[in-house]
Amino acid sequence: MSPHTSTTNVSTETATKDSTPVIELRDIGMTYSSRRESNTVLKGCNLTIGRGEFVSVVGQSGGGKTTLLRIISGLLEPTEGSVEVHGRPVRDSLNELAMVFQKPVLLPWRDNLANVLLPMEFRGKVTAEMREHAHELLDMAGLKDAARRHPYELSGGMQQRVAICRALVSNPEIMLMDEPFGALDAMTRDTMNLELLRIWRETRRSVLFVTHSVSEAVFLSNRVVVVGERPGRIIADIAIDLPQPRTKAQRYTPEFYEYEQEISALIGASESIA
Ligand SMILES: Nc1ncnc2c1ncn2[C@@H]1O[C@H](COP(=O)(O)OP(=O)(O)OP(=O)(O)O)[C@@H](O)[C@H]1O
Ligand SMILES: [Mg+2]
Repeated sequence: MSPHTSTTNVSTETATKDSTPVIELRDIGMTYSSRRESNTVLKGCNLTIGRGEFVSVVGQSGGGKTTLLRIISGLLEPTEGSVEVHGRPVRDSLNELAMVFQKPVLLPWRDNLANVLLPMEFRGKVTAEMREHAHELLDMAGLKDAARRHPYELSGGMQQRVAICRALVSNPEIMLMDEPFGALDAMTRDTMNLELLRIWRETRRSVLFVTHSVSEAVFLSNRVVVVGERPGRIIADIAIDLPQPRTKAQRYTPEFYEYEQEISALIGASESIA
């Protein structure tokens, strides 16, 4: 095991700068039960995420990453353990969370500004201030001219940026992202990675990001959490000690390659560990 790796939770440099945990998972277990069978997908998962951290979750397909994210978002009740957001049960903190899915899921009949404002409409009246904030977000995401256009007039990457603005409009403390760039081509994905990091730096949100790409996880994150299989549990929590802000050139450094190798090996080995 390398010096980066720990089988328990590790505090990173970022976490120690401001160690208030925004998310705390304690001994999370999840068993899906039907009349025919029961399937334990997660067991004994402990994870703490500090304010402003960018944490990625990687692991084999079917290992329980989406299940973990749905539990944190309050969409799914775990069969064991607890989730706290700022020390309160997650069901009391739903306003502090926002989710971004693999597909942008925008309403085609609304223009992009109206799509971004949707969560505010659900909460009540949209004020001039909120409208201004939505414009600022679109501006920050490089979509100044797209506000009055409709989603079908945008590229896939631009649509996903609108979805990110929609997640940010309610000023959530935490962004939960489930393979948000999985459907994009490699070049658009690289650009989106840089965009996301810029937005993260400017807004100082905590991000929990699920991806299949180890390279994406290393590039984006302060920490990478590896979920091992059967049942899914956190088998490693690795601090990514690469300088910020990240640049494309870092992807070609020996340090970056080392992290990629280490994490890929852990994912590959997770079946035999089980
Ligand atoms: N609603 C459900 N009911 C029953 N089983 C489910 C349900 N959702 C997920 N599962 C099972 O839980 C396991 C983990 O699924 P999950 O979607 O969390 O994995 P994942 O790590 O996100 O996979 P992928 O990388 O392919 O997205 C799978 O075996 C899946 O069949
Ligand atoms: Mg998934």
